[in-house]
Amino acid sequence: MTLPNAPTLAALKHAAAGMANRDTPFIFDEWYVAAFADDVSRTLLPRRLLGKRVVLYRSESGQVVALSDRCAHRAYPLSLGSLEGDTLVCGYHGFRFDTQGNCIEVPSASKCPKGIGVASYPVIEKGPLVWIWMGDPALADPAKLPEQEWLGAADWKHSQGGFQLQSNYVSMHENLLDLTHLSYLHAKTFGTPDYARAAFRSEVGDGYFALYRDVVPTTLPPVWAEPTGLVGCDTAARIVKSEFKSPAFHQVNVNFYDSQLPESQRQVSRIRTAHLLTPETQSSCHYFIVHGRDFALRDDAVTAFMHEQLFKAFQEDVDGMAALEQVWETTDADEMYEMSVAADGPSVAMRRYLKARAEPVASLVRVSA
Ligand code: FES
Ligand SMILES: [Fe+2]
Repeated sequence: MTLPNAPTLAALKHAAAGMANRDTPFIFDEWYVAAFADDVSRTLLPRRLLGKRVVLYRSESGQVVALSDRCAHRAYPLSLGSLEGDTLVCGYHGFRFDTQGNCIEVPSASKCPKGIGVASYPVIEKGPLVWIWMGDPALADPAKLPEQEWLGAADWKHSQGGFQLQSNYVSMHENLLDLTHLSYLHAKTFGTPDYARAAFRSEVGDGYFALYRDVVPTTLPPVWAEPTGLVGCDTAARIVKSEFKSPAFHQVNVNFYDSQLPESQRQVSRIRTAHLLTPETQSSCHYFIVHGRDFALRDDAVTAFMHEQLFKAFQEDVDGMAALEQVWETTDADEMYEMSVAADGPSVAMRRYLKARAEPVASLVRVSA
């Protein structure tokens, strides 16, 4: 039995203390995905985002509105009320709110009290996504939205889906920036044995973390081999770039081609996946996924095949992260530790960044201690 001795355990805990985990506060001043655009309609949509209750709906002109889902009067959920034109009427005593969250009518009073209302949140609808800013509204700059032009582009074919992840969002970000798990957690779907051993390089910037892994030559699993026409090819190239773009957005780019062919003759098939994480509570997360490809654009059978196969693989992450969350949930804090290996470098850097963003003062104190 090789358990860490006391000095090792202390060192592991010290290292872990600088990294975000399930107990780290949320980072509010960022754009997060509140919903798929298709899911926001004239029906009130309640959603918990970064621990806060929010209700979403569209105005009559189609603009997305996001308000705090609690009435200013007795805190009844506004999502149980009703829409009248662009206004939301509380289902308890009928207080009426406009799209900015201002209370504009109190049925039992001849005059509506001034200065009463609920929080409204800045939103941006772009392509298939509705983004929300849960932090200081004065800082909600649309320019801070991470680049995502391909999501709405006509030369990419998209499919989308999502999960309610029973895990904190930090674990899922780490999962996405860690490609060594593919050969194991995804052994039955898109992992191959050579994947975990392939050399990788990383890029660590200010709030940007990327991992590159070129698996060449390789034999692709069916999920990639079939749509790219590389079935039976043992000289395939699988060129992967996994990027943490913001606390809300992680993107995976993969290029496939036959490495035997001269560069001029290669047909490169590209796929991209946007993994969009919005914390719900400290131990659960909205996990929105948009997948795209730049080949076989009009082939619905390819869309259906890839969607089914990919979401089967993503379910493995969802189940895996829920299992991991349970260990943290049910193990005494003084028995919990994590140890990192070289391949964890980018994700450790990313978790330190999240910690510093969430708790800047605590991080500074720790660094100077
Ligand atoms: S709780 Fe909403 S009107 Fe009373
Ligand atoms: Fe995974």
